[in-house]
Amino acid sequence: MLSYRHSFHAGNFADVLKHTVLMYVLNYMNRKDKPYCYIDTHAGAGMYRLDSPEANKTGEFMTGIGLLHDIPLQGLLADYTALIRVFNNNSNQLNNYPGSPAIAQHYLRDHDRAQLTELHSSDFKLLSDYIGRQRAIGVLQKDGLEHLIATLPPREKRALVLIDPSYEIKTDYAQVAKTLAAAVQRFSTGTYMIWYPVIKRADTESFISALVKTGIPDMLRLELCVKPDDLERGMTGSGMILVNPPYSLKQEMEGLMPELHQRLVKDAEHRAAPWQVTQLSAEK
Ligand SMILES: C[S@@+](CC[C@H](N)C(=O)[O-])C[C@H]1O[C@@H](n2cnc3c(N)ncnc32)[C@H](O)[C@@H]1O
Repeated sequence: MLSYRHSFHAGNFADVLKHTVLMYVLNYMNRKDKPYCYIDTHAGAGMYRLDSPEANKTGEFMTGIGLLHDIPLQGLLADYTALIRVFNNNSNQLNNYPGSPAIAQHYLRDHDRAQLTELHSSDFKLLSDYIGRQRAIGVLQKDGLEHLIATLPPREKRALVLIDPSYEIKTDYAQVAKTLAAAVQRFSTGTYMIWYPVIKRADTESFISALVKTGIPDMLRLELCVKPDDLERGMTGSGMILVNPPYSLKQEMEGLMPELHQRLVKDAEHRAAPWQVTQLSAEK
């Protein structure tokens, strides 16, 4: 029984990092004309209203996109807030927040393809309604990790895979590590992005160790915390692991993280919360 609904969390600090990186990687994929397949294993509802009871119950978007959307920014953060404005009638209003499928759909070209899986029946329906009938975008109510393995290697021989579970069950971490190893074995040249939360530091580090133990080359870790570790119950930070990232991403994120940290960590007492950009395993 799935209880997680992303509508309570859309646009929070974790989405800011995840979607900024997703935007960057999609742009990078588009530099080559050759078609690719975008695979979103845990797609969510696709689009979120920020005036909904769910979004306002937690107010999480106010600690993420709400801190950025209407201020002057430069570089990647300016590109990200411009992207969010596209979904808000090109205004500074913040009524809608795009999920990963909407962001990907924005960048996919006519000859690209997407496979979106979402298991929750309500979010699957919202996602299907949002995407509509599109020949090149498959929306499936299936287990995303199983479907990923069944899909690889893609016929295009180019793919971007986003693995973004809610980690409701502790075994999800082991399942993600196992699936990633199997996926890379089937299709070693794909770009993979795996999201993870920082809730209990020990759990996060054992997940990262499990990923390193797979022996997958060229893994990059990006992590941003908005509160010190284990300060309280709940998520204090989040991160992304990338396999085969764009060669320029590491340097780009080293430039971006200090600014993102400064803009998202408003509480002076939490300024010591860490961020990192770490090469976890060497390139092939
Ligand atoms: C963090 S949300 C996804 C957010 C989305 N990727 C985004 O960035 O906008 C995780 C989603 O995974 C769904 N989910 C949970 N287990 C799943 C599974 N085994 N296969 C596919 N979807 C699953 C949940 O219902 C939830 O909507």
